[in-house]
Parts: sequence; structure tokens; C-alpha cells
Amino acid sequence: LSKSIDQSQLLGKIENKLFQILNQDQTIKPLSDAMCYCVLGGGKRIRPLLTIATGALSGAHLNDLINVGCAIELIHCYSLVHDDLPVMDNDDLRRGQPTCHKKYNEATAILVGDALQALTFKVLSDNEINISDTNKLQIIQLIATCAGGSGMVGGQMLDLHSTGHKLDLQSLKKMHELKTGALIKGSILAGYLCGKDVNLTVYAELKKIANEIGLLFQIIDDVLDNVEDTATLGKTANKDAVNDKATYVSILGLDKAKQAADKLYNEIIVKLTKITANKMLIDLTNSIYNRNK
Ligand code: IPE
Ligand code: IPE
Ligand code: MG
Ligand code: MG
Ligand code: MG
Repeated sequence: LSKSIDQSQLLGKIENKLFQILNQDQTIKPLSDAMCYCVLGGGKRIRPLLTIATGALSGAHLNDLINVGCAIELIHCYSLVHDDLPVMDNDDLRRGQPTCHKKYNEATAILVGDALQALTFKVLSDNEINISDTNKLQIIQLIATCAGGSGMVGGQMLDLHSTGHKLDLQSLKKMHELKTGALIKGSILAGYLCGKDVNLTVYAELKKIANEIGLLFQIIDDVLDNVEDTATLGKTANKDAVNDKATYVSILGLDKAKQAADKLYNEIIVKLTKITANKMLIDLTNSIYNRNK
């Protein structure tokens, strides 16, 4: 992975690849329009960036990393579309524009999510990803696990059930690790599995760190919901309190939620520095921690 490529160039490549993936997947017209609306309309692309950053640790090729990272971004976009539905978080605004069900309708939003999830696995199993079949299968299994009932979807179920309840910290942490952490963990590990130089000790350590980065991401998301405004977030501010959600802010209070994030962030940086001098992964962790949206 060339050191001369900076993050804005990578973001450009990610956007182009997502555009290409959606355009090659010619579905029924109103559906493909809605899919493009939900995927191409902004987003920080933190998951594909994490995939790319981690791939550098195992000597992966950029083209493979972009394909795998973008495939994962499709699941993420689907999760946002379903998360915003009236029966879930009931949100009107996403990435600064009307949510899918507001722009189109609820049935379309359900189908957009379904189609995006399937498209992830079409992309992951495509010949364009030039890695061994063994590693490819391992990535497919990893992402299916991270996205499904024992990962993101399971976490969303816990979220539904915890709404209006006062969770203990252990259960809250578990919910966050699943609903948001799992796919972030998958993005990081999948990047590593794209390379030829996979070291099992490093992989085991990365698993723990990736889990913590995922948890950190959602703690910060909880904090931002409380402290930032709607224009900055591109989604309705203070929505967790309105929906009576169990979050780090509602359970611990704002100060202790921020302290939990500080502590986790510092632990992650220490661990990351031990396994790699790779700056991109550390930079991305910094931007997860320091972001305002
Ligand atoms: C928002 O994810 C939903 C969560 C899992 C917390 P992001 O903050 O990565 O959203 P985008 O992709 O940048 O819009
Ligand atoms: C999202 O958690 C988790 C997902 C799987 C999408 P949130 O419900 O807190 O995400 P936002 O704040 O709506 O982006
Ligand atoms: Mg939610
Ligand atoms: Mg939500
Ligand atoms: Mg949130």
C-alpha cells in the first residue's frame, strides 16, 4: 500500500468504487435510485478507511481493500436505512438529508436495506477481489457473522428491548459492541485478511483492539447526540433522550461517558502502538475519538 496516497485520495477512490458497484448492479429503476440515494449521499466512510488502514499491516493490495471496504460500507448504509425507520429510531434526517423512508416510503426503505445487504456478498465473492479463496471465504464468513444476529442485527434487537429501561453498564457495553462495534471490528479484521502476511498472534491482538475501537465509536456517537447540534450531526440532535434510549450518556451521565471514552481511547492507542507503527490506523482512531459528527 503506497505511503504516498493520502486520506482524501482514498476517499475519492471509495466514492468512485461505491458509484461503480451501484451502477453495475442494475436493478429495478425506483429501487436503484433509492439505493444510490442512501449510499452515495455523504457519510464519513470510516469503515472502508479502517479496512484499508489495516490491510497495510498484512501487505494487502489497495484495489482489494477498496472492494472489501466498500462491500462493508453497503451493509453499514443498509443498517442506517433500517435504523431510521419509524418502528426503529424514527428519524427524519440522515447525513443531512431526508431519511430513505421520508424521501421514498417505508416499503422502499426496507427493500433498499435488503438489496444492499445482498449486494455486499455479491461484491465480496466477486473475482475482482484478487485474494486466495480461503481468505475470501473467511472474510465472507466474518462479515456475515458481524452483520447478523450475533452481531449488528442482534445488537439492534438489544437496543429495541433496552429502550425505556435502565441497563447495567455490562449490558450496555455488550449492546454497543454488537450494534455498532461488530461491523467496525469486521471492517478492521477483513482488511488484515486481504493480505498474504497474516500473523495469527497479530490477528488475535487486532481482534481485541478492533472490538475496543468499535465500542469507542458508539460511546462517542452517544456523546455527540447529546452535545452537538442537528446541523453539525446531519441527523436530529438529542434524539436518544427523546426516544428514551439506553446510552452511555443516559446511564453514566455526560461527564462519565466522556471519561469512559477517554480511558478506552488511551488504552487503544497504547495497544495499537505495540503491534504497529502504521500511522493511518492511529490517525483513524484519533478521528473516531475527536470527531464532531
Ligand atoms: C452512524 O455511523 C451509525 C452508528 C453505527 C453509530 P457513522 O457515524 O459511521 O455514519 P456515517 O456513515 O458517517 O453517516
Ligand atoms: C446505530 O446506533 C447502530 C446501527 C446499527 C445503525 P444509533 O441508532 O445510535 O445510530 P444513529 O445515531 O442513528 O446514527
Ligand atoms: Mg438505533
Ligand atoms: Mg439511530
Ligand atoms: Mg446514535
